[in-house]
Amino acid sequence: MRRTTFRQLEIFEAIARLGSFTKASEELHLTQPTVSMQIKKLSDTVGAPLLEQVGKKVHLTDVGRDLVKAAREIFSILDGFTMSVAERQGMKKGRLKLMAITTASYFAPRLLGEFSRLYPGIEVALRVTNREKLLASMADNPDDLYILGQPPEDIDVVATPFMENPLVVLAPPDHPLAGKKKISLKRLAQEPWLMREAGSGTRIAIEKLFASKGIELHPRLELGSNEAIKQAILSGLGISAMSNHALALDQAGQFAVLDAEGFPIRRHWYVVYPAARPPSLVARAFMDFLLGQECGDARGKKEGKRA
Ligand code: PGA
Repeated sequence: MRRTTFRQLEIFEAIARLGSFTKASEELHLTQPTVSMQIKKLSDTVGAPLLEQVGKKVHLTDVGRDLVKAAREIFSILDGFTMSVAERQGMKKGRLKLMAITTASYFAPRLLGEFSRLYPGIEVALRVTNREKLLASMADNPDDLYILGQPPEDIDVVATPFMENPLVVLAPPDHPLAGKKKISLKRLAQEPWLMREAGSGTRIAIEKLFASKGIELHPRLELGSNEAIKQAILSGLGISAMSNHALALDQAGQFAVLDAEGFPIRRHWYVVYPAARPPSLVARAFMDFLLGQECGDARGKKEGKRA
């Protein structure tokens, strides 16, 4: 194992996490032949196959699983070392790995931009993914902090609210319900609804509200992104509800926001880390920065531990 390089372990970890040579080579800005060659060398050094290909998907062998665990521990120790050096140097350098849920992509890059201007020596990586993948990654621990709209209940995490995340009902501006006051949920449920994919935090919140009144929603169409839903609304296919952050890039008046019972659903954005892994100094600095943002009634709230 002595001849194994960090680069090989880094490539191997990326393949294990992304389940694909192509995606790993894209993430690491390497060519596919380089990635394949490094994995071959690594597997020769270990003396056993690390991966097996089933159809298009790459799976870890038992030895591969042990190696990826060891690699992540090594990276985590090295990150800790980098942080302690950064601490001595007054936080001039360090690395921050963030993962944010789909809807957070409307504001997370702007916040990261501001943070990077404050701490130019800190290298920040942001990955945006859906709730299911984010939770799976949290269980594996590869990122420092996670941004999402609803902390998980089955993973032991520390979740801190930092900004309001109201869900509003959107319809096309010429919709018959536009401008009506206090539309009942029962009436709203008669409209064709456009819903995000199963597992989306937005969808869970909408379903919870209707279920609390004993009303069942029958989605007309399921779409995997807020942008697709917005286009479908404008094409007259139905109505939906989503975070008002998702409207940030639209022109005022492009959608009618309906005045409906129970809406806006009042929620928050949370910054979360696994309870078993206290945040690094850099991650702490980012959390402090988030809490200093325009964050309505969540401001200054104490950390709430979710089990
Ligand atoms: P989503 O999550 O993008 O998965 O819908 C956002 C949220 O929970 O508010």
